Amino acid sequence: MELNQVIEERMSIRAFKKDPVPRELIKEVLQRAMHAPSAINLQPWEFTVVLGEEKERLSRLLLRSYGERRISCAPGATGPLPAKLGQRGGTSFEDLKSYLDELGLSFEEFINEGSCKFYDAPVAIIICMNKIFSHRRYLCIGAALGYLVLTAHSLGLGTCPIGLITAYEVEIRDFLHIPDDKEIVLGIALGYPDWSSPINKFKTTREPLEEVLRWFD
Ligand SMILES: Cc1cc2nc3c(=O)[nH]c(=O)nc-3n(C[C@H](O)[C@H](O)[C@H](O)COP(=O)(O)O)c2cc1C
Repeated sequence: MELNQVIEERMSIRAFKKDPVPRELIKEVLQRAMHAPSAINLQPWEFTVVLGEEKERLSRLLLRSYGERRISCAPGATGPLPAKLGQRGGTSFEDLKSYLDELGLSFEEFINEGSCKFYDAPVAIIICMNKIFSHRRYLCIGAALGYLVLTAHSLGLGTCPIGLITAYEVEIRDFLHIPDDKEIVLGIALGYPDWSSPINKFKTTREPLEEVLRWFD
């Protein structure tokens, strides 16, 4: 598949088929994600792949924690977003909310509970980073995430990055025996997209380039 096509087609997938993903294919996705650039080639990412019954148990644990603490997907800003900035993601999310309303689904429950169970994907990937690294190294994890989601799409797989699960870091650390010196940075749902599900028909848009571009010459 051509790179442009992969970039333009890729979207977050929130409904998956039950079919398991062969380990070799998961390894191929991760191997290619590791081609991402990183500062001083530090490669600060570490992956834990959770499958089968363990993935189901992890989902049940996170759903229970969500039920108790109700921590939701949030913009992750240091304060209320100014209207113009908030609008960027806000428009997409308002559109998604209306779309879910039409499907009779509550945005809050669908997105929050869905995130906690990795949208029923057969594979959950947890990305960790050693705490010794500066927070600037999140950028490297972000680069690897970009490679990962694009590779997955090119191989016929779907992904959804899941930041929400970091709110339940204590539970995940305990369940997956992740040592205290590692930070849990991101979760990713991975599996074969269920294209028959209406939820995978919603495509987000982007701001016009001019809104975020400044020439200085
Ligand atoms: C760091 C990060 C965290 C995210 N966390 C979540 C999440 O917790 N739950 C979710 O449903 N989507 C999550 N997403 C997916 C975004 O909502 C999605 O990428 C965005 O709306 C753009 O849509 P697209 O990926 O379909 O292009 C996350 C994406 C990123 C990059």
